Amino acid sequence: MVSKGVGPWLCIILVGLLSLLTTEGYDVGLTFLDSAVAKGAEFVSEKFSQGFVFRINYQGGGWCNNVTNCLARRDTRLGSSKQMLKLETFSGMFHNKPKYNPAVDPAMLAGCSAGGLTSILQCDNFRSLLPPTTKVKCLSDAGFFINAKTVIGTSHIEGFYADVVKTHGSAKVLSPACVAKLGPGLCFFPQNMVQYIKTPIFLINAAYDSWQVKNILAPGVADRKGTWRECKLDITKCSSAQLNILQGMFINSCYSHCQTGIQETWLRNDSPLLGNTTIAKAVGDWYYERNAFQKIDCPYPCDKTCHNRVFD
Ligand SMILES: *[C@@H]1O[C@H](CO)[C@@H](O)[C@H](O)[C@H]1NC(C)=O
Ligand SMILES: *[C@@H]1O[C@H](CO)[C@@H](O)[C@H](O)[C@H]1NC(C)=O
Repeated sequence: MVSKGVGPWLCIILVGLLSLLTTEGYDVGLTFLDSAVAKGAEFVSEKFSQGFVFRINYQGGGWCNNVTNCLARRDTRLGSSKQMLKLETFSGMFHNKPKYNPAVDPAMLAGCSAGGLTSILQCDNFRSLLPPTTKVKCLSDAGFFINAKTVIGTSHIEGFYADVVKTHGSAKVLSPACVAKLGPGLCFFPQNMVQYIKTPIFLINAAYDSWQVKNILAPGVADRKGTWRECKLDITKCSSAQLNILQGMFINSCYSHCQTGIQETWLRNDSPLLGNTTIAKAVGDWYYERNAFQKIDCPYPCDKTCHNRVFD
C-alpha cells in the first residue's frame, strides 16, 4: 500500500454483511463509496460526527519504491481497490461475532504489515481529523519494520524506504519533529518516530517477523552471524526507552507476520499466548482501558503456542 496522504482513504470501504458462511469467517461484499473518493479524509470526519463508528484498516502489501514498480502494480489489487476481490472473508479482528472477536470496538485505526506501518505513521494525522471528543486509538500488526542491515552488512531497507519516501513525497505526512532531527527517510521507521506519537497505540509483532527476516535480513542465513538478534534487541530496546508512549505491545517469539486478521492467531483455543493471554484479550483490555498489556516473549523457540509460518 502506498503509505501517504490520500491513497489509503480511497480504499475505505463500508461493509455490508452478506452471509455467514463458515464458523471462522464470513464473507463481505465490497462497496465503493464514491463520495469518499471525492472528499477524501473529510468523509471520515463527517461520518464520525454523524455518530458512525467504524474501524479503518489499511491493507498490507508492501511498497513501491520507484515509478517503474508503482506502474507495475497499478492494475493489481495493490494499486487500485477496483482490482480487489469482490468478496472478502472477515475473521479474527474483523469478525462480527463476539465469540470470535469479543473485545474490539470499531473506532480504531488499524492495519497489518505495510498497513500496520501506515497506522503508526498516520496515527496522529488521523486523530487530528476527528473531533477531540472522539476516542481514537491505533493498532499496528506486524508494522514495526526495523532498520537493520542485511546479513552481508548492506543497508538495503534504509535505501528502499528512502526511495519510497522520495517517490511518494511522504515527508509532509511524517512527524515534523522527527524529520527535523533525522530527515524523512529514517522517520519511516517506527523505532525512530514512535516516540513522537501522541495518540494511544498498540503494537503487535512477532519478534521473529517472517517478512522481516526474509526481506530485511535475508532468507535462510538469518541467524548465522547473530544478525537477527539485533532485530529482537531493537524491539526490546525500544520498549523501555523510546516506546514509552506505546500503551501496549504484544511481541511474541513466533515466526509469523500479521496475527490479527486470522482467527487461529487472534482468538481460538489454540491461539498464541503471551502471559497466558491471547492477542484478542490483550487488545481488548487495552482498548477498553481495563488493563495495560506490555509483554515481550522469552527467546525463540521457548513459546510453544506459536503458529509458526512455514514457507515452501
Ligand atoms: C526500481 O526499484 C527496484 C527495486 O529496488 C530496482 O531494482 C530498479 O532498478 C529500480 N528502477 C529504477 C528505474 O530506478
Ligand atoms: C492460563 O489460563 C487458563 C484459562 O484461563 C487457566 O486455566 C490456567 O490455569 C492459566 N495458566 C497459568 C499458568 O496462569
